[in-house]
Amino acid sequence: MKRILRAEIDEMEKRFRANFINALSGYKSANLVGTRSADGQANLSIVSSVIHLGSNPPLLGMVMRPPSVTRHSYENILETKEFSLNHIASPFFQQAHQTSARYDREESEFEATGLTERAVENWRAPAVDEAPIRLGMRLVEDMPIPHNGTRFIIAEIAWVEMEEDFLSQDGFVDLEAANVVTISGLDRYLKPTSLGRLNYAKTDAPTSFLSKK
Ligand SMILES: Cc1cc2nc3c(=O)[nH]c(=O)nc-3n(C[C@H](O)[C@H](O)[C@H](O)COP(=O)(O)O)c2cc1C
Repeated sequence: MKRILRAEIDEMEKRFRANFINALSGYKSANLVGTRSADGQANLSIVSSVIHLGSNPPLLGMVMRPPSVTRHSYENILETKEFSLNHIASPFFQQAHQTSARYDREESEFEATGLTERAVENWRAPAVDEAPIRLGMRLVEDMPIPHNGTRFIIAEIAWVEMEEDFLSQDGFVDLEAANVVTISGLDRYLKPTSLGRLNYAKTDAPTSFLSKK
């Protein structure tokens, strides 16, 4: 058993520490953020920090790295107040990863990676045609996190697009059927396997299966 203390973390080589700390929060959601600048340039970038904030109103949060260097997605979101979130599925996870490369502002990651821009009616930001689940997001709040200079973006869900088959009778969305991947650390992609759905936990009854799938 190895015990690693904070002082050792601070001494770690930069890349090693990034790999190490990025793995510790557990498996993460895998999304592509689609934006369009005010002058029309499309941008696509992978993020693993999208989290659920609340269902009424339907809110998601997302951490954006410090805007000290140019951050195209972040700037476009501030400029236009909207973006798309596109779930990454196994057939295109390598292309999705490639969007993290530092392309110039004039370069579209759609063109660079071969992913397909999907226009959405009455919506400025491009979505990803290959994504099995797509969300339209409206900016609610851009919160500074003073401790490390990152930003916490809070956004409201404006629309959702997916195959009807992925949506269960009770509202559950079957990410496994949609081949959605998850991310471990900074660079490992996995396909999770369901262990089943459980019933709402109650103090007077043992845990039971809602479905074995
Ligand atoms: C697996 C993975 C997850 C990432 N997650 C985030 C994230 O949650 N927030 C973020 O700001 N950048 C994240 N990045 C880095 C961005 O994808 C990268 O900085 C990208 O170049 C930003 O592009 P832009 O300048 O066009 O917005 C991640 C990169 C990888 C490979």
